[in-house]
Amino acid sequence: MRHADSVGLAGATFHGDYLAKNQDDVAGGHVTRSSGPLADRRALVTGGASGIGRATAVRLAADGAGVVVNHVGDPHPAEELVDAIVRRGGRAIAIAADVSDEMQVRDLFVRAAEELGVIDVLVNNAGVERPFALTEMPLAEWNRVLAVNLTGPFLCAREFARGLGEVGSDGVIVNVSSVHEVIPWPRYSHYCASKGGLKLFAQTIARELAPNGIRVVNVAPGAIATPINDGLADDADKRRAVEAEIPWGRLGKPEEVAAAIAWLAGPQAQYVTGSTLFVDGGMTLYPRFV
Ligand code: BGC
Repeated sequence: MRHADSVGLAGATFHGDYLAKNQDDVAGGHVTRSSGPLADRRALVTGGASGIGRATAVRLAADGAGVVVNHVGDPHPAEELVDAIVRRGGRAIAIAADVSDEMQVRDLFVRAAEELGVIDVLVNNAGVERPFALTEMPLAEWNRVLAVNLTGPFLCAREFARGLGEVGSDGVIVNVSSVHEVIPWPRYSHYCASKGGLKLFAQTIARELAPNGIRVVNVAPGAIATPINDGLADDADKRRAVEAEIPWGRLGKPEEVAAAIAWLAGPQAQYVTGSTLFVDGGMTLYPRFV
């Protein structure tokens, strides 16, 4: 899983701060709890305790959504995050579940509905990666990456769509895919297969779910400063090599991806479905090609 990182709440503006800057939403000078572009939404963020997932949970809560922070393993980072969101006037709960396990995913959605209400924004963020050349790739590793990165989004999307039911449910699924939806990456054939798969999975279910009023979109981050990329922070040469592949010249921030996710989940993106939004500083623009 993406591990806990130092993304704090410092950059987040919660209801009060948000509304102070958005006078239209302030009724009679009073800030209401369920305000903001995602007011009355109930979001579930898988792998929500660290990295992009954590920044997304913070952002969605700041925008007014109640948030389920899904996590596996050590519960403390998720619990601390939930406490911090609640202290700032947001709504959040933590629920442990392995997204690749069918029963655990069912229980996750049942508990979320009981404690927060039926989920209507799903962010499929949980993901794993570890490099292996094809000839060295253990089957167990291939299976693990596909299970978490692709089967997980399938299980969660299925439960989500079942929960919302028929026509007009106004739900949104945002899959956190990757530039490796389209960029081949040696030693990451399992990861690329999972993200490439996520692209056509999303497009296909976007067609299936449009009649039900459910949108499905992918956000494709490039190299973002999260724990998954800790190796880059510690190795200046490696970091320079990666930055040379980014026209914008730097790694992205988790909050920059979270902002794209929040917009896609919100009412301004009503007409966006089946597409991928790349948040990659231009990494997919063939920067070395002359
Ligand atoms: C991976 C990162 C990588 C980036 C660009 C992301 O999907 O999680 O580890 O740096 O793609 O290659």
